[in-house]
Parts: sequence; structure tokens; C-alpha cells
Amino acid sequence: MAITPHGGTLVNRFAAPEKKTALLEKAEKLPRIKVDAYAAFDIDGIAKGILSPLTGFMGEADTHSVLDNMKLSTGVPWTIPNLLPVSAETADKLEIGGKVAIEDDLGNLIALLSLQEKFTLDKQHLVKQVYRTDDAAHPGVAYTLSTGDVYLAGPLDVLADRKVEHQEYNLTPAETRAAFEARGWKRIVAFQTRNPIHRAHEYLTKCALEMCDGLLIHPLMGTTKSDDIPGEVRMRCYHALLAQYYPKDHVMLSIMPVNMRYAGPREAIMHAIIRKNYGCTHFIVGRDHAGVGNYYGSYDAHYIFDEIDPTALAITPLFFEHSFFSKRTNEMATKKTCPGSDADHVFLSGTKVREMLARGEAPPLEFTRPEVAEILIAWATGRE
Ligand code: ADX
Repeated sequence: MAITPHGGTLVNRFAAPEKKTALLEKAEKLPRIKVDAYAAFDIDGIAKGILSPLTGFMGEADTHSVLDNMKLSTGVPWTIPNLLPVSAETADKLEIGGKVAIEDDLGNLIALLSLQEKFTLDKQHLVKQVYRTDDAAHPGVAYTLSTGDVYLAGPLDVLADRKVEHQEYNLTPAETRAAFEARGWKRIVAFQTRNPIHRAHEYLTKCALEMCDGLLIHPLMGTTKSDDIPGEVRMRCYHALLAQYYPKDHVMLSIMPVNMRYAGPREAIMHAIIRKNYGCTHFIVGRDHAGVGNYYGSYDAHYIFDEIDPTALAITPLFFEHSFFSKRTNEMATKKTCPGSDADHVFLSGTKVREMLARGEAPPLEFTRPEVAEILIAWATGRE
């Protein structure tokens, strides 16, 4: 039997086709707000059940419960509040009990919000709880501080889904669940990434696949910070890698249209919950999962799982230590599985790799596959 979605049911907040025309007509007469891409991806995630059991943007009670207890008010684990911030001026024009039409960053009418609450939060508390820092240089903190001060809450009726590049790979949770069933996979491990897949990533996924029936390579394709590698380039890397180095019958590639928050430990829990909604039973958590800069300890995203009730979480995390190529044993490994000192390990920092790529140099084979390096060099040197 497939894994139960988080909170019990896979949410679908798309307006029923027979109601859509009436809702569109109604929207014409409603107050309208324009949201950014970040909120638009959240709306898409709610509509498709990616964020089950959420049916809309969170109210004050749920938000405090998430921030302080890492649970929704119903007791279901949840670690990052899904909020809809607007300016105080905009909020003043909206009436509780009424509906609000929502237009996305591209100018499309995408949803109606049934406005139940307007509230404010102590933003310092918000960022410290979610990101464990209030440093404005942290991209998640910077974003949170840059948005409006009033939060709108209530259920959504969604009128349009958000298309992304490579939309044919953007399977919904209902679709990945059906795909797993069609393949007869019972134990499915998901791999989150916002990067091209290098040898260390490949090692994690293959170790995990040894214990499971199927591997879902599930790159995040919502909003990311501007210096992350663009989704379109990453997608070409994934295809090149999958064509040569992974068996087709045990691996699936699909996109996850969810924003990157760079919240490290708390985001690792959300990433696991989301993959459970997609039908996965296991989830890879490696070194500094969803981290940025030096804000989190290498294994903080492992330790946080001890604070969450494993029965309520239900998806099983698979933890991996820092992995590298060992020149001594001539294979990918971690300190857990190979002897030797740091001098025997091929380790390159992200900055060093970027510098090499920009110079048109391929990182060593022990770090990345040549087919992936080629795509990245063409991109980094502007040769494509
Ligand atoms: S993340 O923001 O999506 O976590 P990234 O794409 O680099 O960033 O990582 C994807 C997954 O691989 C995460 O679980 C991360 O912890 C893990 N990971 C990345 N590099 C390593 C490594 N060298 N050793 C072990 N785990 C790693």
C-alpha cells in the first residue's frame, strides 16, 4: 500500500471545472492583489497537494505552533510556516470574510483566497525560529524581511497551475504516486537537490537505491537565489548523467516546483514531508542539507529528525555523512566507510569548482562526470 499523504489526505485545491467559469466571473468584481513568484509557487504547491494537508495560507495559531513547536495546531509535524505577506496598505483594503483575487508575478489570475485572518508577526522571532539566525545576509532572512508586514490567511480555490520549464517533468504528487504504482515500486527513495549531480550526490543516491526499489531524482525548481545554477542548465546535466550512469528501470526524474528557503534543518523536515506527499517512503539527507554559507553545522539537518515524532513523519530519512572520492581505496566513500586522512580525499569547495568551470577547466573525474562538466563549462564560459 502506498504511503499515506501527510495529515491523511492528498489535497487538491484546484477549482472544479464546472465551477471555474463562475469563479472567474466573480474574480472580476473582487479586490485583486499581485503576488511574487515565491507566493505563486506556494499557491501551486497547495493546489497540487505538494503541501498537504495545507488548504491555504496559514493563520496565526498555526504559524505560532509551527514556529514554536514544529507542528500544525492539529499536531501534525510542520517546520516552516507558509505565509502570504502583503503591505499594511494593501491589507487595509481587504475585508475579513470576503474573497480576494490573486494575480501572479506574470499577470495571470491564479486563485481566489477566502480571507479568514489578517495578522502581524514579530519578524525577528520568525526568522530566528525558521533560519536559526537573523543575519540579513542569509538569503531566507533577507527575503522574509523584504516582504510585507501583514499576513493574509485562508483557504484557496486555485484557477491555474504554474508551468515551469521542462513542464513534462513536473509531475504532481498524484502523478508520481501513479507512476510508482505502475512500476511496482514499494520502497521509493527521493533525492532533493538544487545543484547539478556530482559524484558525491551520485554516491548517496546509489547507496540509497541499493536498499529501495526505486529512486526519484527530484530537483527543486521553485525560486532559488540568483547565484544558484539555473534549472534549465541543471536539467541538461541530469539528463546527461542519467543517460550514462543510472539504470532506467529503477530511476525516475521529476521536478519539484517548490521554493528554496536555505533553512537547513527545518527545511530538511519540510523536504521529507513534501516527498512523502509525492509518495516516497525514504528521503536522503546528506551533509549540510538545504544549507547556505556557514549558518548550519554539517549534521544539524540530521539531528533535527530526533525532535520529530517518527510515526507522525512516517517517511524514513536516510542519513549520509560527508562523501568524497578516496584516493587510498579508489572509490567514493565517507569517513565511516574508508580509512585514511583528509589528504587521501578529493574535496573541492563550491567556489573552487566555479572558478575552474569559469576558466573552462573540467573538475577532476573524481568530483564530477565529464558529461556533466562539459555542460557546466559551456554554461560558465558563456559558450552555449
Ligand atoms: S541542497 O540545498 O539541495 O541540500 P545540494 O543539491 O548540494 O543542496 O545537496 C543535495 C543533497 O546532497 C542534500 O541532502 C545534501 O545534504 C547532500 N550532499 C551534497 N553534497 C554532499 C557531500 N559531499 N556529502 C554528503 N552529502 C552531500
